[in-house]
Amino acid sequence: MTSITELKFCKHKATKLIYFFLIQTIKNYLGNYFNSKNKIFNYLFMKKKISIIGCGAIGSELAQHVDSNMGENITLLSLLDIRLENAQILKSKLIHNSPLIFENFDEFIKSESFKDVELVVEAASQNAITSYLNQLILFKKDVLVMSVGAFANSDFFSEVKRNVERTNTNIYVPSGAIAGIDALKSVKNSISYLTLTTTKNPNSLKDSPFFKNNNLTVDSFKKRTLIFEGSAIEAVQNFPTNVNVAALLGLAGIGVEKTKVNVIADPSIRINKHEIKVIGKFGELIVRVKNIPSPTNPKTSYLAVLSVIECLRSITTKGIKYGT
Ligand SMILES: NC(=O)c1ccc[n+]([C@@H]2O[C@H](COP(=O)([O-])OP(=O)(O)OC[C@H]3O[C@@H](n4cnc5c(N)ncnc54)[C@H](O)[C@@H]3O)[C@@H](O)[C@H]2O)c1
Repeated sequence: MTSITELKFCKHKATKLIYFFLIQTIKNYLGNYFNSKNKIFNYLFMKKKISIIGCGAIGSELAQHVDSNMGENITLLSLLDIRLENAQILKSKLIHNSPLIFENFDEFIKSESFKDVELVVEAASQNAITSYLNQLILFKKDVLVMSVGAFANSDFFSEVKRNVERTNTNIYVPSGAIAGIDALKSVKNSISYLTLTTTKNPNSLKDSPFFKNNNLTVDSFKKRTLIFEGSAIEAVQNFPTNVNVAALLGLAGIGVEKTKVNVIADPSIRINKHEIKVIGKFGELIVRVKNIPSPTNPKTSYLAVLSVIECLRSITTKGIKYGT
């Protein structure tokens, strides 16, 4: 005969077993569900997976910031730089991320890890944008573009726009080394005058085609001199690594043909100055930015580095968004 204590013990064991099987079934069900709905799972629960192209002044600062401060929202999957050592040095400075490194774009896009990349940050060069951007878009990757000067080429920009529409991807262009893009976008339909005046030390301008084409050296300028007046398109062609902001102003405002740019070489200054003047039916907008150059690249303003960090933070976090 079975005693009451034995019966109670058996019931208890059975209940435990039922609970065990129930939990296993729920676990399996959820596992299968999230595996099959990987995209939804990623979207809801996982971090944004990014790659950075260009491991110079901007790319390096950004990667280190992501590594130390944005771990909750972002995983850095890979780095690409045509100078492999730049990617290697950057990787060695990271603590929480261990990105794969590439020196060749084809290897990068053929790699297994590329399939998981959701956002590519470009901080390399206009050449990089011209050669890589359309391919990235066609692989349905969102792209954050720093070398926005490449968009001053209207044929290239039209192709980019077409591909973005076809693939339903996003291109993010941070405000970079300037301020006022939010206001400019708001007033773009009532602008009658828009000029950017950029003042830099000749040392920051010296490698540009403008210097080479005109046989100029840093010593050609002993005092503050207006060296260039033209459209944003011409400015970007003459100073491709210095006036990306001219292209951005053009695109956000009245177009790169109508946007006027002055470049001043001033041997007495150590900062990069941008002054934007906009006049229209809305009134006047005057923005003056005095930028400290990045310690590793004097052509690049430190504000541009901070701007890409903020842009990435805004893309990868939910909540209240400020500005236009
Ligand atoms: N939008 C803005 O306001 C703004 C401001 C500053 C700089 N920029 C632009 O951002 C880009 C990065 O600036 P930075 O100061 O970091 O430059 P940087 O010269 O310090 O670094 C660029 C890095 O990219 C690598 N690179 C160049 N071409 C490449 C390619 N085709 N493929 C892969 N890697 C390549 C270089 O080897 C280098 O390591 C430049 O094009 C610069 O003109 C834009």
